[in-house]
Amino acid sequence: MPYNFNGKNVFITGGSTGIGLETAIKFAKLGAKKVFITGRNESTLKAAKELIGDSAEIIIADVGTINGIKTMVEAVAASGEKLDVVFANAGIAENNSFGATSSDEFDKTFDINVKGVFFTVQELLPYTLDGASVILTASVVSNKGMPNLSLYNASKAAVRSFARSFSNDLKARKIRVNALSPGVTITPIMQNGLKMDAAAIEGFKQYVAQAAPSGRAATPDEIADVVLFLASDGASYVNGIELSVDGGLAQV
Ligand SMILES: NC(=O)c1ccc[n+]([C@@H]2O[C@H](COP(=O)([O-])OP(=O)(O)OC[C@H]3O[C@@H](n4cnc5c(N)ncnc54)[C@H](OP(=O)(O)O)[C@@H]3O)[C@@H](O)[C@H]2O)c1
Repeated sequence: MPYNFNGKNVFITGGSTGIGLETAIKFAKLGAKKVFITGRNESTLKAAKELIGDSAEIIIADVGTINGIKTMVEAVAASGEKLDVVFANAGIAENNSFGATSSDEFDKTFDINVKGVFFTVQELLPYTLDGASVILTASVVSNKGMPNLSLYNASKAAVRSFARSFSNDLKARKIRVNALSPGVTITPIMQNGLKMDAAAIEGFKQYVAQAAPSGRAATPDEIADVVLFLASDGASYVNGIELSVDGGLAQV
């Protein structure tokens, strides 16, 4: 792998499992000085730290609340470090039935997936270096109308939009902001959020195998590699984009 993150500080929301965890492991292996990872579940975060190593610093915080955002910012401030990379990745995917969706369901998805991303990036700005790379996890669903996922789909469309606006808003500081949109990636979100059992996950994999030119779902490792690219100097002229990493699923 061509990248080198020696001495860099990386902040990853939702770094305890799935895409965020794989990304944290890679940054640590490639020399990052400090890899902050956040999540709500303490034991999952501790298990992740074991995998990442000494550079990992865990922060227990809910990005869907302003208090949680404050906890994250205070931890970075206390470390005395400034951030080279901010990966606003935490998110949930839950089905909602249009026609019977409650206000609480709406708020939950938008608080975590939209408000959480907005305030993570905004409140960390004083601790983010000029020239840093900010990466937002959107999803290919932002361009799709996947049934029973209208809240999730719309939340990710908002995240994609933030990459456009933030990249302009942060122009003077030369901070690049890009959205990364994974396609179907096998992570705990399938069980935890979408409540899929083993048979449903197998069925989903078979659907992707026939629908995507790549003929299979992604591994979190394959998404993490693209985060590294966006964070690297190799992406120095990549700004404001949505980079789909979906095996072609939403491209054809
Ligand atoms: N897997 C896919 O097919 C796919 C496709 C497109 C986009 N994505 C996006 O990729 C991102 C990562 O998902 P994943 O697939 O890697 O799923 P995952 O394994 O479930 O990871 C989600 C991470 O976010 C954290 N998280 C969730 N809600 C949080 C909250 N309120 N506050 C703080 N942390 C929170 C989780 O930890 P805790 O639960 O402990 O808080 C976990 O670390 C999400 O934004 C998801 O929407 C996934």
